[in-house]
Amino acid sequence: MELYLDTADIAEVKRLARIFPLHGVTTNPSIVAKGGQPVWEVLPQLREALGGDGILFAQVMGRNAEQMVLEATQFTERNSGLVVKIPVTQEGLAAIKQLKALGIPTLGTAVYSAAQGLLAALAGADYVAPYVNRIDAQGGDGIKTVQELQSLLEMHAPHAKVLAASFKTPRQALDCLLVGCEAITLPLDVAQQFLASPAVDAAVDKFEQDWQGAFGCLSL
Ligand code: E4P
Repeated sequence: MELYLDTADIAEVKRLARIFPLHGVTTNPSIVAKGGQPVWEVLPQLREALGGDGILFAQVMGRNAEQMVLEATQFTERNSGLVVKIPVTQEGLAAIKQLKALGIPTLGTAVYSAAQGLLAALAGADYVAPYVNRIDAQGGDGIKTVQELQSLLEMHAPHAKVLAASFKTPRQALDCLLVGCEAITLPLDVAQQFLASPAVDAAVDKFEQDWQGAFGCLSL
C-alpha cells in the first residue's frame, strides 16, 4: 500500500519522513495557502524534505480544461515524480482525458461519490481521491463510498488506485484500508494519532524501571 502525508509543512515532512514509511506528500490549494509560500517554492522543498524520493501531488487552479492542462504541464515540466490533482468536474474530466493522452499522471480529486470517481478513472486518472470525512459530514457514508469505488475500479478500471483522503480519525483511515483501498493520505494530526497512546509510553517506562531495578543500568 501507499502512505502519504497531506500537508505542505516542510519541517514536519522532514521530521516524519525519518519515522514513517512514507510514499510521498499530497497537497491541495488550501494546504499550500495555509503555508503562505507559492507552490513553485513549496514543491522542491517538499521533495528535499522527503530525501529526494517519493511522489508529490499538486493541484491545478484552472476551472476549464485548457487552463488545467496548461498548469498540469507546467507542474510536471518543473517537478519530476509529480502527480497532478484535477478536480473531477465536467472540465476536469476533459482535462484528465487530455493529460492521459500526453502521458501526464493525474489524480481525480474532490470525489464525493463512487460514480464520480469511476468516471475519473475511466477518463484515465491514475489515482482517485474520495473525501471520506467530508462525505460523512454531509450525511453520507465515506467508507461505503470508498468500498464501492474500490470494487468498481477493480472491475472496470484496474489501472487506477483509490487514494482515500479527508480524514479526521485513524479509525476512518483503517476502515478504508480494511475495505481494500490501496493508498491513504493523512493530515499531520491523524498521522500522529496512529502512534499516540499513553499506554505505549507507560509500557516502555515499566520495562525501563524493571531493568533498572534488576541491573542498575539501562544498557544490555
Ligand atoms: C485530498 O485530495 C484532499 O485535498 C484533502 O485530503 C481534503 O482534506 P480535508 O477534508 O481535511 O480538507
